[in-house]
Amino acid sequence: MKKTIKDYTYRDKKVLVRCDLNVPMDDNSNITDDTRILESLQTINYLIDNQAKIIILSHLGKIKTAEDKKHNTLYPVYLKLKELLDTNVYFSKETRGEELEDKVSKLQNGEVLLIENTRYEDYPDKLESSCNQNLAKYWASLGDIFINDAYGTCHRAHASNVGIATYLPSAIGFLVEKEITAIDSILNEDTHPYIAIMGGKKISDKTLVIDNLVNKCDQLLLGGGMCFTFLKAKGINVGLSIVDNDNLEYCQKILSKYQDKIILPLDIITQNKEIKDIDSLTDEDIGYDIGPKTIELFENILSKAKRVIINGPMGIYEDPSFKKGTVAIYETIKNHHIKALIGGGDSAASANLLGYHDCFYHISTGGGATLEYLSGKELPGITSISEREG
Ligand code: 3PG
Repeated sequence: MKKTIKDYTYRDKKVLVRCDLNVPMDDNSNITDDTRILESLQTINYLIDNQAKIIILSHLGKIKTAEDKKHNTLYPVYLKLKELLDTNVYFSKETRGEELEDKVSKLQNGEVLLIENTRYEDYPDKLESSCNQNLAKYWASLGDIFINDAYGTCHRAHASNVGIATYLPSAIGFLVEKEITAIDSILNEDTHPYIAIMGGKKISDKTLVIDNLVNKCDQLLLGGGMCFTFLKAKGINVGLSIVDNDNLEYCQKILSKYQDKIILPLDIITQNKEIKDIDSLTDEDIGYDIGPKTIELFENILSKAKRVIINGPMGIYEDPSFKKGTVAIYETIKNHHIKALIGGGDSAASANLLGYHDCFYHISTGGGATLEYLSGKELPGITSISEREG
């Protein structure tokens, strides 16, 4: 059992908190979805209330060139935190050095300091991403306790999470605890039918998730871009629809091993908004959404489900002409009050955009982290945290 944020006292202590403030921004550095910031507030406010001196670390995007630094500063996130937190919030433009150390030394109980993007340390030498021990030791030297609340980054073993945890007493924050508890609850409870639904574009990133889910669920419904590789593996002409040719053999194997469990679309909507049965696609057709027969089939199966895991949309939901499949799935979850988890990749974005945010048991803030967790892997950001004794 890992230590949690409630296992320490904080008055007068300098607490390093790793958050995942890797939020999407437009070209003018406006934050376009602040979910991750809002989800980090419980931990930050708890530390404020408990009189800690709070030092927040986060990455933003990837830093491969000097130019990347300009577009990936955490300054807009700092401004947002200032707006949201009822205390003094400071920003260090440096990820190490005098300015940072000076700001840390001046922090008062209950105040917050946000450090610039930890991945600035990735240029030119990838120090953050390679979990450089000198960097990790340096950051650890700034604090007394380390809290990892960056759930979305828990699949990475970087200096700012796994590295710091090596050198300080540590615990998971409220968000990490909430995510893991919710996902475990769906994965492990013994209620049936247990249905998994997968869509999205790629198969290559998801083979381990498919292996793990199909093995345990009662039925796996496939839609979105993902279904076409399976359909092609069955010998069906999918026209110009998205296909991951490198994984055709994998799909054939899965289909023959789990033929009773895997449910593929009966019809689709093409790029020209035509409804076509799956065996009547021409060489020019591209599938953009699941069709009405498929929707009916999926609704039927889903309406009896006791728990559901969703990874990936059923179509190009951003375009109103191709959102029907995804909407139908969410509507069924809502109407039948089904215990459903949505996460991995950009699945959560579809629930938010289509207005189904409140209909899920849990919407995960993790992309890659949730995919790895669903595939049964341990997350280094969590395994590196101190164990609770006794
Ligand atoms: C995410 O957005 O999935 C996390 O913030 C991790 O980001 P990364 O894939 O760049 O490590």
